[in-house]
Order: sequence, then C-alpha cells, then structure tokens
Amino acid sequence: MVARRIRLLLLPLLLLGLCSHFGAAPAGASRGHHKSKSKPSPRPAPPPPRAPAAATFDVVSFGAKGDGLTDDTKAFEASWAAACKQEGSTVVVPSGHVFLVGQISFAGPCKPNIIFQLDGTIVAPTSPKAWRSGTLQWLEFRKLAQGITIRGDGVIEGKGSAWWPSKSHLISENQTGSQLEGKMPGTRPTAVRFYGSYNVIVTGIQIRNSAKCHLKFDNCEAVQVFNLSVSSPGDSPNTDGIHLQNSANVVIHDVDLSCGDDCISIQTGCSAVYVHDVRCGPGHGISIGGLGMDGTKACVSNVTVRGVTLSNTMTGVRIKTWQGGSGSVRNIRFSDIVMKDVRTAITIDQFYCDGGRCRNQSSAVAVSDVYYTNIRGTYTDWPVYLACSDSVPCLGISLADVELEAAAAQDDSRGHDPFCWQAYGKLQAPTVPPIRCLKSNKSVDNWSSSTTEYSC
Ligand SMILES: *[C@@H]1O[C@H](CO)[C@@H](O)[C@H](O)[C@H]1NC(C)=O
Ligand SMILES: *[C@@H]1O[C@H](CO)[C@@H](O)[C@H](O)[C@H]1NC(C)=O
Ligand SMILES: *[C@@H]1O[C@H](CO)[C@@H](O)[C@H](O)[C@H]1NC(C)=O
Ligand SMILES: *[C@@H]1O[C@H](CO)[C@@H](O)[C@H](O)[C@H]1NC(C)=O
Ligand SMILES: *[C@@H]1O[C@H](CO)[C@@H](O)[C@H](O)[C@H]1NC(C)=O
Ligand SMILES: *[C@@H]1O[C@H](CO)[C@@H](O)[C@H](O)[C@H]1NC(C)=O
Repeated sequence: MVARRIRLLLLPLLLLGLCSHFGAAPAGASRGHHKSKSKPSPRPAPPPPRAPAAATFDVVSFGAKGDGLTDDTKAFEASWAAACKQEGSTVVVPSGHVFLVGQISFAGPCKPNIIFQLDGTIVAPTSPKAWRSGTLQWLEFRKLAQGITIRGDGVIEGKGSAWWPSKSHLISENQTGSQLEGKMPGTRPTAVRFYGSYNVIVTGIQIRNSAKCHLKFDNCEAVQVFNLSVSSPGDSPNTDGIHLQNSANVVIHDVDLSCGDDCISIQTGCSAVYVHDVRCGPGHGISIGGLGMDGTKACVSNVTVRGVTLSNTMTGVRIKTWQGGSGSVRNIRFSDIVMKDVRTAITIDQFYCDGGRCRNQSSAVAVSDVYYTNIRGTYTDWPVYLACSDSVPCLGISLADVELEAAAAQDDSRGHDPFCWQAYGKLQAPTVPPIRCLKSNKSVDNWSSSTTEYSC
C-alpha cells in the first residue's frame, strides 16, 4: 500500500521534471525532489530515477498489415508482450492503417505505466468463425496494477451491426455479408474492458458501434476517462457508453456519448465517482443501477454528476433498483443538468424490472441522500418520477432549482405531473413544475436504514 502511494506520487513529479523546460512548473511541483527549487524537501530525496529510453513497440514492426483484411491479432499480442516488460513503454498503433484484431487480452502484470498509443483504427471481425462463443469482451486490459494509458486520436470500431438483430425480422431471409456465413454467437462482447487495474487513463480516442457495452471498468481504481467519444445508433441494443462496476475514484469528463442504452451506467461496488461535462444522446441517460437483481446486495455511494447535457434520451438522471435486493445507494449529487426532450427527466425507480415479470417483494436496495440542483430543460413524459419501495422508502431527497417544461408536443399531450411514491425529503425552493407529492422526511420515523441489511 505504502509502496503504491510512493509510486503514485513519483510519477507526476517525474513527468513534470521531463516537461519543465516547456514553462513554469505548476504549483505543487516544488514538493518532492525537484532540485531546481531551493525549498527544503519534506522527505529524503528518492534515488534519481533510472531513465530508460522510452521504448516504443509499433505493431507494424511486429508484422501487423493494417490493411483491414488480414488478422493482425498476433502482431498486437507480440508488441504487447514486448511493451509489458519495460517500464513506461508504448505500444504504437499507427495512423493511416486499419487493423483487424480479434478477441485479445492485454494482460498484466506488467512493468509500470504502459501506454497504448492508438492513432489508427482497430476493427472487430464480423465473421462468426472469428468469435468463440461466450466471449464477453473484445479488447481486454487486465491486471495492470501499475498504470495503463490508452491515448491518441484513433478509432475502435466494433462492427456491432453484425450482432444487432436486424431492424425488421421480416428481412431475415434477405441478409448479406457476414450474416450469410452463419450466425454470430449469442453472447455479444463488450468492446473495451478494463479489469483489476489501477491508474487507468483513456483519452482522445473514439469507440464506435460496439456489439454491446463500449467501455467497461470492473474492479478498477483511480480511473480517468476524458476527451473521448462513443457512438452507436440509438436503437442498437444494450450498447451502454461507459459502464462502471466495483470501481472507485473514477473521473469521467469532456466526453460525448451517443448510444442505444445508458450513456453512463454505474453499478454495484462503485464509490467516489465524479462525472462532469458530458453530452449524452441518443441513449438512456446517466444511470445508477439496476441494482439488487436476483436478491443481491448492492452498494453505491458518493457519486457526483455535474454539467451534463442530455438530448433526446429515454431518461435523464436515474437511479434504478430491482425489488428483493439489499444494500444502499447513498450520497448522490446531480447538478447543472440540461435536458432537451428527455422522456423522463428525474427518475428513482425501485420497481425496476427489465423485461420479464417481477414479483413484488418487501426488501429493496435503500436509497437516501440524493441531491438534485439546477436541473433545467424539457421533458416529453414525466418531469419527475420517484417510485420508491413500500417497505424501504427513499429518504433525504433534496431538490433545488428544478425547472422542467413539457416539450412542445406534436399532439395535445403535455406530459404528466410529477409522480412520487414513498419518497421523502425536501424541496429547497419552489420547483417548476411544483413537486407537491414529495413528503417530509419527518413523516417516516419508524424506519431505520441502520440495519445490516442496508449497511454497506
Ligand atoms: C429482400 O430485399 C429486396 C431488395 O432490397 C426487397 O425488395 C424484398 O422485399 C426483400 N425481401 C423480403 C422477404 O423482405
Ligand atoms: C482531444 O483528443 C483529440 C484527439 O482525438 C486531440 O486532437 C485533442 O487535442 C484533445 N483535446 C484535448 C483538450 O486534450
Ligand atoms: C463517502 O463520502 C463520505 C464523506 O465524504 C466518506 O466518509 C465515506 O467514507 C465515503 N464512502 C466511500 C465508500 O468512499
Ligand atoms: C406491486 O406493488 C405496486 C405498488 O404497491 C402495485 O401497484 C402493483 O400492482 C403490485 N404488483 C403486483 C404484481 O402485485
Ligand atoms: C410504520 O409504522 C406503522 C404503524 O405501526 C406501520 O403500519 C408501517 O408499516 C411502518 N412502516 C414501516 C416502513 O415499517
Ligand atoms: C432525511 O433522512 C435521511 C436519511 O435518514 C438523512 O440522511 C437526511 O439528512 C434527512 N434529510 C433531511 C432534510 O432531514
């Protein structure tokens, strides 16, 4: 743990050291071992870092053809294996090429701070023969505990249309291309997944048309995703933009997400998640959950979502839990949100049921301390929809500066009034429309979230 912290501190200082001739080092750079500063160092200077020539491993020099037709998977594996062995080295995927790459795992443990410089395009195979059935992800980065960065202005193209059901089942006898070779496996892969990694940065790139989720983090810590775009059609199935699970200290900012499911989906085990300056649409909005499926315990806390524009999405900002779960969702802040023609703008749904039939059950994932501040724009169906469990009410819902108007409708429908069920909290100021259905916290005094069932 201590060793990890020291490495963390050293890395930025090293980088600052390398870049300092470009201008004044930012405040804070004077800490540590910066020799040019006269201030005494608060701790002994670490030994001068070994500075190996930054090694680069270009996939083309490992035999990749980059013609979009030849399978370049082996060349990618080989350049990764080489880069993995050397601290701070870079796998280069050069621009001007299209690399056809099958399922691949860029696995650690590796030396610290490996960079994946993606300037070209990586495309997924569309031949069913290229996929083992049950493949959960296409490009996987796993067990990189000492830093992994993907950067560049390249593209990851998932060719998802080969997997998505055709829009009309009527034309299934009329299909072309890959579909003639047989069916794609039933399990659709996530395009890019990080597992069990620490200090992860993904920036600059575009991820398009994933068969399923575009970018997933599971069991990761210290994650930064910024200046990135995700795009797939609004009707492509389950194509979440960014999916987080069991991950902490995550920052996502300055990203453009258009897809067929949640733009950002925050699942169980996440805390300290900060999302800001995000554009979402089409898509299903920014969602926490669905949590507590099949009676599981779910824990999500300390999530801040600020400065998000949602256009033509199914929901805006949403918390969704299945009946029968346990655990809690706590301390969630949504602020400075702009909605344009969003179907349901503000949602808490403790009766979430995706397909199928769901029994009414008395246990639920508890939801408390949810703050909505400065939420503006237009909705088409519901401005506010707070459907909480009968037995586990939502507590501490706070709304301020909410101003939502029904979108100009083609017909006469003007949307619904705000809906609340077992929702308790406080309006910090009058809202538009008025949310009269929210009850005061005080009226639930015989419910306690402190039982172990709801503690996390
Ligand atoms: C097959 O494709 C043709 C041309 O696109 C179209 O006219 C025809 O209706 C299709 N057949 C079926 C069964 O959908
Ligand atoms: C964002 O990424 C693009 C490459 O896709 C790059 O050209 C641009 O400079 C980046 N912008 C910032 C602010 O980093
Ligand atoms: C959430 O934030 C609170 C207050 O800052 C902190 O005490 C708590 O440890 C955080 N929870 C997690 C799981 O990080
Ligand atoms: C479940 O409970 C809700 C709210 O009390 C009620 O509207 C709904 O009809 C119930 N559904 C079933 C299947 O019992
Ligand atoms: C609160 O107490 C009332 C009266 O005893 C009871 O009917 C109700 O079910 C209780 N509510 C909860 C959430 O336990
Ligand atoms: C309402 O109850 C929740 C949960 O007990 C608590 O955290 C919150 O501070 C309360 N809010 C108000 C405004 O009383």
